[in-house]
Amino acid sequence: MRKNVIVLLVTLQLFSSCASKTTLIENRVETVLNHAASQYQYLMTHLPDYGFPKTYHENTLEISTSDWWCSGFYPGTLLYLTEDLNKPVLRQESKSLLFDLKKEQYNTTTHDLGFMMYCSFGNAQRLHPKPEYENILMNSAKSLATRYNDTVKAIRSWDNASWNKGKEGDLVVIIDNMMNLELLFWATQHSGDSTYYNIAVNHADKTIQNQFRKDFSSYHEVIYDEKTGDVKAKITNQGAADDSAWARGQAWGLYGYVVAFRETKNQSYLNQAKGIANFILNHPNMPKDMVPYWDFDATDIPNALRDSSAAAIIASALLELKNYVENPLTETYNMAAKTMLTTLSSDDYLAKVGTNGGFILKHGVGNMPNNTEIDTPLSYGDYYFVEALMRLKSDLDNTKL
Ligand code: GLY
Repeated sequence: MRKNVIVLLVTLQLFSSCASKTTLIENRVETVLNHAASQYQYLMTHLPDYGFPKTYHENTLEISTSDWWCSGFYPGTLLYLTEDLNKPVLRQESKSLLFDLKKEQYNTTTHDLGFMMYCSFGNAQRLHPKPEYENILMNSAKSLATRYNDTVKAIRSWDNASWNKGKEGDLVVIIDNMMNLELLFWATQHSGDSTYYNIAVNHADKTIQNQFRKDFSSYHEVIYDEKTGDVKAKITNQGAADDSAWARGQAWGLYGYVVAFRETKNQSYLNQAKGIANFILNHPNMPKDMVPYWDFDATDIPNALRDSSAAAIIASALLELKNYVENPLTETYNMAAKTMLTTLSSDDYLAKVGTNGGFILKHGVGNMPNNTEIDTPLSYGDYYFVEALMRLKSDLDNTKL
């Protein structure tokens, strides 16, 4: 107990000393959310009639078609921003994007349907429930379930074997895939059909079995033999090295097991989430301002680029995880998340309205080895940043009651 109190005091001191450099997020959540809404109003007016904002690079707004893995984030962020700010123009924009996105419910060529359809239609259904959204989400879950392999007991992530260094007969699972399970949990809750729940649980169990190292860091990719289920290789595509800890991968794993615990109450998922959080928060290469380098093992630390998207995802996950643990962990997670959000909402990371192509956060790293989206805004960084702010706002509102 005494040891726990000392850990808590040291942690609080560390977080508060670096957070004090800028205005604490808890004193300006509403202001930052309003700022984000103004920024997205600017982005909206610069988007072509059809297109999903991806990033902004060399003064050019890059957009994608609806089948890109990030297509759900912009409509999802718009929905969060309209949740309690009175912004009919953003709500209208979200509707028009959802219209363009809905055909992806039948897309069976990607594992990213959770990102694409749950971040968008999942939020639409939560805020404005209607049978059309339910059908779209169910069809999306069905499409995702077609990628499940019952020998491996996991969902196939990528199809393109040559691109991911695999060979025919390989089944590739990337840690990011944990983020697509929420859609499957929703589908079982909605339909009563346990198939989706079972797929999600098998995938989460298989990922614990093979994707993690002893210190709870994760490999980016595990290559299975699709006929036997044997593990053939553990490698990276987006990290600094096969055995490194790619920051966003650690963030996806953390968030994924927080959701898996919420949906199942399986203690092994809670242990996994706590282990990953411990790895991230106590890593010697985690900067004091709590925005991670793009890879915890990047060779040029402390000069390596930071990844604001990883910080946003981790902050949002910690704000949920803190509700499933007790002190001192509750306070440790809460303070860490608030430090991340304080840093992200400082001038270093929060773009001024009318700059940054209309994206909210600066300084994300998409794919360093591929040399794409380096030190740029990213639509998913914005999404999880706004989600985390909404979670914090809800906590602060509840403490006022
Ligand atoms: N899911 C791809 C990424 O995190 O970059």
